[in-house]
Amino acid sequence: QLYDIGVIGLGVMGKNLALNIADNQYRVAAFDLDELKVKETVRQEELERKQYLKHLTQARILGCNNLSELLSSLEKPRILLLSVPAGAPVDGVCESLIEAGIESDDIVIDTGNSLWTDTVDRELSYNQDFHFFSCAVSGGEVGARFGPSLMPSGSLTAWNRIEPIWQAIAAKVDTKTGLPIERFEPGNPVTEGEPCTTYIGPAGSGHYVKMVHNGIEYADMQLICEAYHLLSQGLGLSASEVGDVFERWNKGSLNSYLMEISADVLKQADPLTAAPLVEMILDKAGQKGTGLWTAVSSLQIGCPAPTIAEAVYARAVSTQKTQRQQLSKLLAGPSPSLSNELDKQAFIDQLEHALYCAKVSCYAQGFQLMAMQAKEMGWQLDFAEIAKIWRAGCIIRATFLQSITQAYQQDSELENLLMADVFAKQLSAKQDDWRIAVSQAVMSGVPVPCISSALAYYDSYRSSVLPANLLQGQRDYFGAHTFERTDKPAGEKYHLNWSSDRKLNKL
Ligand code: 6PG
Repeated sequence: QLYDIGVIGLGVMGKNLALNIADNQYRVAAFDLDELKVKETVRQEELERKQYLKHLTQARILGCNNLSELLSSLEKPRILLLSVPAGAPVDGVCESLIEAGIESDDIVIDTGNSLWTDTVDRELSYNQDFHFFSCAVSGGEVGARFGPSLMPSGSLTAWNRIEPIWQAIAAKVDTKTGLPIERFEPGNPVTEGEPCTTYIGPAGSGHYVKMVHNGIEYADMQLICEAYHLLSQGLGLSASEVGDVFERWNKGSLNSYLMEISADVLKQADPLTAAPLVEMILDKAGQKGTGLWTAVSSLQIGCPAPTIAEAVYARAVSTQKTQRQQLSKLLAGPSPSLSNELDKQAFIDQLEHALYCAKVSCYAQGFQLMAMQAKEMGWQLDFAEIAKIWRAGCIIRATFLQSITQAYQQDSELENLLMADVFAKQLSAKQDDWRIAVSQAVMSGVPVPCISSALAYYDSYRSSVLPANLLQGQRDYFGAHTFERTDKPAGEKYHLNWSSDRKLNKL
């Protein structure tokens, strides 16, 4: 009997996707260049089947020794899922598949964190050989195993064929509450609820949307870290006390997976020293590039996403540990502890509001960026659907994505989330607390680049007048770059002869 789908690349994500697919009654043929990984995947399936699915005697995953064996084990036209590192390895596998005899109506799905422009190019270059399809995956290893959020894009022919598998393996949301249905049991996948997958659009759009998801993820993580910094350095709370605060926040409008895991991290003791583990973790952040790509894309297209960019910079500053150590002795600043007169509980509540506002501001930036890129590329992105598939499975899953979904359902053309009634009202009501949190941070010298840049974004967008008039004057002064006038039709250009007679010329 032939197999339904081939999985190539059996690292953590590939192995778990294979097991997830098998749990959903599809037969999987699996291959990795590292034969130990093939053995490990087959063994894991066997272990889980024996423990949880005693009635099944036949293996649901076939381990293959090479790509030819994999291809000949699959039902035609074939479906192949790639889970290999982004970049050259994706092309390497595609070329090897061509050599191994892949056919033109077979589908190859790239599930890595590929750069979206590479995906656009790949669809064009492999078009003759097979359907190159892409599906960005979010949710880390647990998501891949028990239900990720899936962002597929590319040919609709390919999508129609894989959609049933995708709906089965995706995370599910309770249709009534909009909350994730979480069940992490091998052999017992969640089959009820709304699947967190939707066809995003033409080639590249799914990876673009996932890239922005990651940009938001970077900012969301950094916002939580800044709150931790303020509570620990500013208020003097212990790691586990901050964990308690986060647990409480997680019960309200800040409810999210990232808030939940941050509380857990803060409350974990170090197995070696018994100190809070977080205090033993070196403060140098890593990154694989997706946040950077988001910031670069926002700069290229001219869409402000300062909080996402600041989150990337914050990781960069963190890696400069030696310089920070030197400068901590050289540069003066206030003591990080907040004033003794401060009402601690009141400040914690203000910070909760500040964090919520900053979070909304950062999602507004991400959604606006997707909208601008979509316009440029001619993609018809459905933002209500995108917010919906981020409600479960993915790293930025959060209760408030339900409000974003509703905002776009009410107005699919919404230019900026800050214009949605619900968010305009909430932010207007909480903005005083946001300002207090930022000013306390500034006065105590605790850096809060994301919370404060999110506020600057909010203030910039609520300013009908910005000082760009002076900026245009400066540009005209030294470079004759011209300016428009407030009292003349748009598009009419003027230049003042700054260095001679100071006469105004209409160009
Ligand atoms: C996800 C994550 C996942 C991963 C990224 C970010 O949605 O499942 O975003 O894709 O965590 O690679 O990693 P870095 O923080 O290392 O850039």
